[in-house]
Amino acid sequence: MGRVTTSTADLWHHYGRARADSDRAVPDGFYWAWGQDAGPGAEVLGDLVGCCVGDLGAGAARHAAHLAVHHQPGRVAAVDASPAQYAMATDLYGHLTPRLRIVHSDVVCHLHAMRGAYDVLYSVFGAIDFTDPRELLPAAAAALRPGGRLVFATLAHYLSGALAQPDVVAADVSAKTPDGAEAMMRRWVLQEHVWTTLLEEAGFTRITSTVLPATAEGTRTADTLLVKAHLPS
Ligand SMILES: C[S@@+](CC[C@H](N)C(=O)[O-])C[C@H]1O[C@@H](n2cnc3c(N)ncnc32)[C@H](O)[C@@H]1O
Repeated sequence: MGRVTTSTADLWHHYGRARADSDRAVPDGFYWAWGQDAGPGAEVLGDLVGCCVGDLGAGAARHAAHLAVHHQPGRVAAVDASPAQYAMATDLYGHLTPRLRIVHSDVVCHLHAMRGAYDVLYSVFGAIDFTDPRELLPAAAAALRPGGRLVFATLAHYLSGALAQPDVVAADVSAKTPDGAEAMMRRWVLQEHVWTTLLEEAGFTRITSTVLPATAEGTRTADTLLVKAHLPS
């Protein structure tokens, strides 16, 4: 689990906790945009009927639960390294097993163990934002079947409004330990052409990107970079 943060504490302990207390429903919709309230949805993933699908950094597994219930995949794996997120996902959506499989693992380890198993992999501001892409993207390519696809939503710029990086450089961003102490974790906020080069180096083709504008104004809003890539058939 060392690759997830610069600390051994679970820096995702607080994420989504308040919502989990009041909202236990399988979401009716699937959103890519940072605001999680508008824009394109699961159709971006293509036809999922019978497919083996993996959510990389699934958190409480709300997106994965939606796909399992509404899109007839063969199976969806919701993968997350955080003990707190794994516990939350299991509590909320464990009843959807076996359509939804909740997996407690670093995604790079999981993908290496699942060579050629997936038709579709995706991340919604998940592990792709918080894991060295030079490790994660080749592992994702190896875990996909020929013709498989990878789709991810990531920040188009920093939450401060600063431009995304023109090189493969991570920034330290603030986080909180379970007991509320300040900590840091690494986040990769990269320009579109940097993602494209990394994806090509990992073996992906037919790479397209779209910017989804922020749907609200404010200091914590952001534009979303939605990236789709394919493995050769
Ligand atoms: C911002 S949250 C997003 C969660 C979820 N996709 C959502 O939209 O609510 C990022 C998640 O990625 C997970 N994560 C980050 N790096 C990871 C890695 N290398 N392996 C597995 N999970 C990872 C974290 O534990 C956290 O739950």
